[in-house]
Amino acid sequence: MSDTMKAVRLHAFGGPDVLHYEDAPVPKAESGEVLVRVHAVGLNPPDWYLRDGYRALPPEWQPHPAFPLILGSDISGTVHQLGDGVTNVSVGDEVYAMVRFPADAMRGGKAYAEYVSVPASELALKPAGIGHVEAAAAPMSLLTAWQFLIDLGHEAPNPFQPFPHAPVPLAGRSVLINGAGGGVGHLAVQLARWQGAHVIAVASGKNAALMRDLGVDEFIDYTKAAADEIVRDADLVLDTVGGQAAARFLKTLKRGGALFPVFPLGFDAHDEAARLGITVSSTQVRSSGSQLAQASRLLADGTVRVVIDSTFPLAEAARAHARAEAGGIQGKIVLTVD
Ligand SMILES: NC(=O)c1ccc[n+]([C@@H]2O[C@H](COP(=O)([O-])OP(=O)(O)OC[C@H]3O[C@@H](n4cnc5c(N)ncnc54)[C@H](OP(=O)(O)O)[C@@H]3O)[C@@H](O)[C@H]2O)c1
Repeated sequence: MSDTMKAVRLHAFGGPDVLHYEDAPVPKAESGEVLVRVHAVGLNPPDWYLRDGYRALPPEWQPHPAFPLILGSDISGTVHQLGDGVTNVSVGDEVYAMVRFPADAMRGGKAYAEYVSVPASELALKPAGIGHVEAAAAPMSLLTAWQFLIDLGHEAPNPFQPFPHAPVPLAGRSVLINGAGGGVGHLAVQLARWQGAHVIAVASGKNAALMRDLGVDEFIDYTKAAADEIVRDADLVLDTVGGQAAARFLKTLKRGGALFPVFPLGFDAHDEAARLGITVSSTQVRSSGSQLAQASRLLADGTVRVVIDSTFPLAEAARAHARAEAGGIQGKIVLTVD
């Protein structure tokens, strides 16, 4: 095998045009790792945040990684080589993973490439019956929805708050999901339905038909009506848009309810939440092969469907980032690798 592969690298931070399709060294599978031949790469917001140098963060938090760097965390592919001590997969297995997140969040998970090395503990077998495009689209969005709604699954410190995030019961509860057409949102809708929640989906009007297909109980087009003026007495709001504006959802919740901003930076209504008796909690998604293995059966039997917004060849990663910047993503953007 050649020791050179194609990858998309950046040599400086900037807009989509800093993404260059070029030769790069094939990574090694170190002890406990697996070298995966990548077939598809799922895109996520941290990809464009890092491409742009996390400009929205205060300067002291901005990363200073070594260039060139390779973005990307979510992959589906085939096991090519095993590092020492790996026993959970074999060469030729089809696998999917979210690679080293948040460990490599500030220097790139190296997934925009023909090969990537992945800690074996972060891999799961690709769900039977779905393609590499759908499998690569799932990991970060699905693990986020899973860790917020179903099971946190780890004891690592929470960077957003001094206490661990804890999911709340969903069966028979009223759950509002904001940003329901996006990557995290459309999977969260399906996990909440699977758990037996009454789901109120909030998204722009073009998502109405999709939301009906996914079986939501109520749909609110936020371009026509403000969900916070309509909904009352919900048990849980999962706000995948988040930020300061998440505070408007406090009045949609009953006392004892919970507000989970998936993007918690800027949220500053903790005093009001305490006065209303509402728990506010967030967390940072973490790689987990075992949770992907649990979720695999839901993807395999169609309980959870991954919606694809668009696909682009790896060589056209810059176009894929431009698509993301245009906004209004329905489901996921995926890069395909020959
Ligand atoms: N805590 C964590 O570890 C974690 C993990 C994953 C993601 N995140 C964060 O969560 C956010 C969502 O991620 P994602 O991957 O789901 O992004 P995404 O795929 O871009 O989805 C965002 C969705 O929000 C919708 N939206 C935009 N403005 C809205 C508004 N005012 N009201 C309702 N919906 C609105 C967008 O479409 P329409 O406008 O067409 O409806 C889009 O579908 C990002 O900020 C990301 O950084 C955090």
